[in-house]
Amino acid sequence: MPIRMEEVTHTYMEGGPFESTAIWNVNLDIKDGEFLGLIGHTGSGKSTLIQHMNGLLKPSEGTVIVNEIRIEKDSKNLRELRQQVGLVFQYPEHQLFEETVALDIAFGPKNLGLSKAEIDLRVREAVQLVGLSFDEIKDRSPFELSGGQRRRVAIAGVLAMKPGILILDEPTAGLDPRGRDEIFNEISVLHKEQGYTIILVSHSMEDIARLADRIIVMNQGQIALTGTPKEVFAHAGELKEMGLDVPQVTNLMLALKEKGLDVPTDIYTVQQAKAVLKQILEGGGNRRA
Ligand SMILES: Nc1ncnc2c1ncn2[C@@H]1O[C@H](COP(=O)(O)OP(=O)(O)O)[C@@H](O)[C@H]1O
Ligand SMILES: [Mg+2]
Repeated sequence: MPIRMEEVTHTYMEGGPFESTAIWNVNLDIKDGEFLGLIGHTGSGKSTLIQHMNGLLKPSEGTVIVNEIRIEKDSKNLRELRQQVGLVFQYPEHQLFEETVALDIAFGPKNLGLSKAEIDLRVREAVQLVGLSFDEIKDRSPFELSGGQRRRVAIAGVLAMKPGILILDEPTAGLDPRGRDEIFNEISVLHKEQGYTIILVSHSMEDIARLADRIIVMNQGQIALTGTPKEVFAHAGELKEMGLDVPQVTNLMLALKEKGLDVPTDIYTVQQAKAVLKQILEGGGNRRA
């Protein structure tokens, strides 16, 4: 079990006048190789939760165990952990600062004290993993790239640390549809072909439904729902009460059902919807014949 959280509570500015508890008594297990989708309204505690998984935040109460490293309130030396769990922040490209793409991606591995040959190799591999051409991009300034490319360079910088577990906090925020598709495709490749354990925070119910093996829904600092996409999106009413939506095709099925059509409502991808609608249309054709 690479990640386990036991009764984790996090309070910001503990003991001060502005003390506020962001997550409460969270219990959770993430399996090796799992693709976990994390959804929830703004302020529900998603970013706080994931920052416990690489030791950036420590629990005020409870325990986080990652690859057998225990993290508690007073734990120290979490450097090793940050290496094993890569965290891609929201708008990670804001942290690019080196003159060239290659130097930027090399920054983390350099801090690990690796040899020059190993650093070069890692940079090259990381660039390829995010679907960019090393020779075309290595000497360019990060600032002359497109938004989608910049973000991929930032993700490559995390991958160059060879983390094994990759957490992405709204990795497609602010990108156009093409940039979004590119990033999601790369994440999918990292999961399927490189065996990465992925934890993805996203507002896009469609993408979460399509990519995740399991979904966790956060609401007011606690886990409100968890299950496969099918199980979670079956709770359309509850999700709406939490200010969340279900995928558009699920809404379509719910609307058709309301109109009296006998359709399943646990549909959450376009492919599934297409199959169901095709069956209905063909069924209708048969009746006419
Ligand atoms: N650094 C911080 N200091 C104080 N409060 C914070 C800090 N970061 C987040 N919070 C508060 O914690 C709660 C959860 O926030 P966050 O984890 O960012 O949620 P989400 O990522 O789901 O939007 C919110 O009420 C937010 O205002
Ligand atoms: Mg957040």
